[in-house]
Amino acid sequence: MTSWLAGLEERARAVLPAPVLEYVAQGARESLTAAGAADAWRAVRFLPHVMRDVTDVDPGVELLGRRSEVPWGVAPTTLQRAVHPEGELAMVRATAAAGAVTVVSSNAGTGFAEIGATGARWWLQAYLPSDRTLAEPMLARAVEAGAEAVVLTVDTPVVGTKHVVGESVWDTVDPGLVRVNFGPGHEQHPGADKATDLGPHDIDWLQTRTGLPVVVKGVLRPDDARRCVQAGAAAVWVSNHGGRQLDRAVATATALPAVVAEVGRDAQVYVDGGVRSGLDVLAALASGADAVFLGRSPVWALAGGEEGVARLHAELLAETVEALRLAGCRTAAEARSLLRQAAVPGA
Ligand SMILES: Cc1cc2nc3c(=O)[nH]c(=O)nc-3n(C[C@H](O)[C@H](O)[C@H](O)COP(=O)(O)O)c2cc1C
Repeated sequence: MTSWLAGLEERARAVLPAPVLEYVAQGARESLTAAGAADAWRAVRFLPHVMRDVTDVDPGVELLGRRSEVPWGVAPTTLQRAVHPEGELAMVRATAAAGAVTVVSSNAGTGFAEIGATGARWWLQAYLPSDRTLAEPMLARAVEAGAEAVVLTVDTPVVGTKHVVGESVWDTVDPGLVRVNFGPGHEQHPGADKATDLGPHDIDWLQTRTGLPVVVKGVLRPDDARRCVQAGAAAVWVSNHGGRQLDRAVATATALPAVVAEVGRDAQVYVDGGVRSGLDVLAALASGADAVFLGRSPVWALAGGEEGVARLHAELLAETVEALRLAGCRTAAEARSLLRQAAVPGA
């Protein structure tokens, strides 16, 4: 018997078309980074507290100054409408009901106005094109529809090669299910390709254009994290894109502590990649993350529609609260003490 969460991918595999399944599961090249992500969290060992009152446990956190009822959010993923007809709408509704934020991919298959009309809390994820001005209408639409932050993905100067077995999802999926927030013919426009010259100045550019806090997603090194924070980033998001970009990039569980040590006092630090259970959430919090983000898990859950995503949040909450209690932590923030031996007085 495994937990409901552990069986999530297998249950989605029973209902989703093969090209969609493969698209969600795939990693870049040999998938070494994708395959190692979850094990890296499982290798973390805790020093639990005992004899503390854990009757009431609050797993909530503050994300960019607003309370989230759970220490996680939903990471941006494309093709949600190929997984379920309600796609992003089901995702944001169920996630908002759990008191969490959803990051909506700029390549989403649902219009930002429709997402905003749900009243759910959401952040926009953006890739910037070579000609930055081409992103402006899409950014303006997101701001208009109530996005509360912009997550700039910086690990994708080119799309990492994935080896597809069988039919590619892009040959099977209705083009109307993706990138609906750009004008017609956007991709053919000179300068619409992904920027290969991103730099810290883009953080300021985005902040000025949108008036929103900027989160930089795809950072693995402390020196890069420092450059982002110096350039005005409100948060850095430790990510290797779920192992879909540079294969053999370090596991995020390995990269996180040094990034926290470098910038954790000046900015929030988030992490994603291979988080599949409440114990993984605890490992990320113990390693210093302010919050974790979930990539593939909510997509697998979305195969069961809004109800599936709601169950994902409920199961993860139950596991996380149990883990916090067993570790002697009353809050998510207290989990930061779980990797440290307490100082011995007088030693
Ligand atoms: C199907 C799929 C589509 C994705 N699309 C995007 C995207 O549009 N923008 C982005 O920044 N990251 C994208 N990602 C990466 C996720 O945001 C996240 O970094 C990653 O999935 C986390 O790892 P996990 O899947 O192991 O939780 C995608 C990931 C998957 C699996």
